[in-house]
Amino acid sequence: MTIDPRIAAAVNGANGEAEAAGTRPCLMNRRSFLLTGGIATTVIMVGIPGLPEAQTPAVVATYPRKFITRLSELVVDEPFDFEYPDEGAYAESILIKLGREAGGGLGPERDVVAFNYTCTHQGGPLQGTYQAADKALGPCPLHLTTFDLTRHGIFISGQAYQSLPQVLMELEGDDIYAVGMFGLIYGRYDNLQG
Ligand code: FES
Repeated sequence: MTIDPRIAAAVNGANGEAEAAGTRPCLMNRRSFLLTGGIATTVIMVGIPGLPEAQTPAVVATYPRKFITRLSELVVDEPFDFEYPDEGAYAESILIKLGREAGGGLGPERDVVAFNYTCTHQGGPLQGTYQAADKALGPCPLHLTTFDLTRHGIFISGQAYQSLPQVLMELEGDDIYAVGMFGLIYGRYDNLQG
């Protein structure tokens, strides 16, 4: 199968080929990834009867910093399941050491990533569908969408048109913490709705 050179350049982003082809690479470096996700906070205005609006305090809801596991305990292609940003509906997530550099990847090899397990199409459960050969999650049992975990969870095939929400992580010594999310979790109007 012949791949359109503009698509290949956008995906691979090598040596300015993407710009030459009039497209932009789809991978962000880790700094851009964290900065982009870091602004994903929720601002809730709280009204207090009797106070004029200008004096109404604002409550800012931010993502919890949650310990997930230790880097040294991860094995390539063995999923580690956890829940984030809470233990409510649709919070189940996968943390995986891919053995291959990935967008937003953590650790010395930049190959540790984490994603929400809920398909962005209609909420199909992606638990147990990790494909080591392709570093992908899927196919979804409902309509067969598959997501690429090396490229920020972008869909490879199927019915979904939104990437899988990626969990932002930080490394402190050997400890891995989840600190935010990039993308809206299926079934929620706000990732922090609880
Ligand atoms: S719910 Fe996953 S492809 Fe439709």
